Amino acid sequence: MLIFAHRGASGIEPENTLRAIRSALDANVDGIEIDVHQVEDKLVVIHDRWLKRTTSGNGQLKHYSFEQLRALDAGHGEVIPTLDEVLALTAKKCLVNIELKGIKDIKLLFEYLDNAIANMKFKQEHILLSSFNHRLLALIHRTRPEFTIGALTSCYPLEYAKFAEKLSAYSVHLDVDFISEHFVEDAHNRGLKVFVYTVDETEDISAMKALGVDGIFSNYPTRSKSHIAHLINNSDS
Ligand code: G3P
Ligand code: MG
Repeated sequence: MLIFAHRGASGIEPENTLRAIRSALDANVDGIEIDVHQVEDKLVVIHDRWLKRTTSGNGQLKHYSFEQLRALDAGHGEVIPTLDEVLALTAKKCLVNIELKGIKDIKLLFEYLDNAIANMKFKQEHILLSSFNHRLLALIHRTRPEFTIGALTSCYPLEYAKFAEKLSAYSVHLDVDFISEHFVEDAHNRGLKVFVYTVDETEDISAMKALGVDGIFSNYPTRSKSHIAHLINNSDS
């Protein structure tokens, strides 16, 4: 079962900052999940459209210029990183799940990804693009089918993982509140990986392992990894 650090190691460091990414890399995670918004002609790594929860700013992201955003404190004196900065830090080290939140121009996204692959030796197979915006995922697949897609949902769909298969996704990303053995079986029968968010509690981690999901997103990757190791050791003995 893969471990993705959710917004970096966001349980112990400010979410979606380079500090949280470094901490996740120190924990030897399999992957790191980040959230991305477009501001002017830049892609920045931040979860919310509103600034006050995670930064020293106020109001909405869209009312700030890139320079103004970079002057904000995203926690412990960290700046809001650009996607480039995260990709440079993580290149050749682990999977990066780029969750697309507020993207206006997919050409800009491809410029970032192509640049990382060409100039940072970032491996294309390490990139997983996910979104709740399924029309955006469909457009990405039509435009650049070589990029791997993860179909996000926060609901329990009528036809289980069919929507993800229709999107030609590699994986389906489901809320831990709605996972079931029927869903996992359906997704696996369709050839899809199942990644579940956000899984931090040991009982939930054990339950995900028992369900046979392929990966979890955790805010506390070190703790979650050691619980999985404990489960594996106990099943051997
Ligand atoms: O990508 C998994 C998870 O991050 C989706 O929800 O709101 O935490 O970005 P959210
Ligand atoms: Mg996310």
